[in-house]
Amino acid sequence: MRASLSDLPLVFDRVSQRAGATAILDRISLAIGPGAPTLVVGPNGSGKTTFLRISMGLTKPSEGMVSWGGRTETRPMRRAFLFQEPVMLRRSAAANIAYGLAQAGYPRKGRAARVEELLDRVGLLELAGRPARRLSGGEQQRLALARALARDPEVLLLDEPTASLDPAATRYVEEIVLMAARSGTKIVMASHDLGQVRRLAGDVLFMVRGRLIEQASADDFFEHPTTPEAAAFIRGDLVL
Ligand SMILES: Nc1ncnc2c1ncn2[C@@H]1O[C@H](COP(=O)(O)OP(=O)(O)O)[C@@H](O)[C@H]1O
Ligand SMILES: [Mg+2]
Repeated sequence: MRASLSDLPLVFDRVSQRAGATAILDRISLAIGPGAPTLVVGPNGSGKTTFLRISMGLTKPSEGMVSWGGRTETRPMRRAFLFQEPVMLRRSAAANIAYGLAQAGYPRKGRAARVEELLDRVGLLELAGRPARRLSGGEQQRLALARALARDPEVLLLDEPTASLDPAATRYVEEIVLMAARSGTKIVMASHDLGQVRRLAGDVLFMVRGRLIEQASADDFFEHPTTPEAAAFIRGDLVL
């Protein structure tokens, strides 16, 4: 990892993603810099996952340009991705993290200590030896977070990581995300849960049908939405 290279700002310049005649993303331009978490908000099907996948460099857009810290190569330098459903290897919790570290070229010597530190950070130290796939949904998502944080990413992209979790497990994941944000990792996270957006967001990107229709601080988004769609979404009665 070359710490001198930054993945920020993340810049979209008229980015579109098309599937046949449909625009999944429609000419999105924006810049995301360091700071408090950015929440990508919108109803199901609005393009949040597609936006995050392109932000990570996992999907190439059909039009427009994406750059990371001024570079257009898609190879992630300092960004990590957390999927909606964690994908775990058929190994222990600890081994799942160790594997990630090995893949990232982390020196073998410090690996065990680093695994322990990461497990501790997400409250899984006592379950280190448990097969990862036997952990509960919330525990698996915390393990996935530990794995994503293992390389100290500058940017962490999360795709509705609590969508299938109960409220307690959701809060636990949110705490870890906030802790990462406080220690300097830029969080870009999709959510359609307004309570969660209020708890986490520094600023909001509001998407409807592939269009970015509002970009504002969280306070402005909730107190002074500038579009009828955002106002309706906040009231809970956006009908598409
Ligand atoms: N590869 C694809 N081909 C065709 N349609 C797609 C593809 N990927 C996503 N879509 C459609 O694009 C829309 C936005 O998808 P998505 O980015 O998953 O939105 P969200 O995450 O906000 O629910 C959805 O209607 C989805 O069905
Ligand atoms: Mg999605």
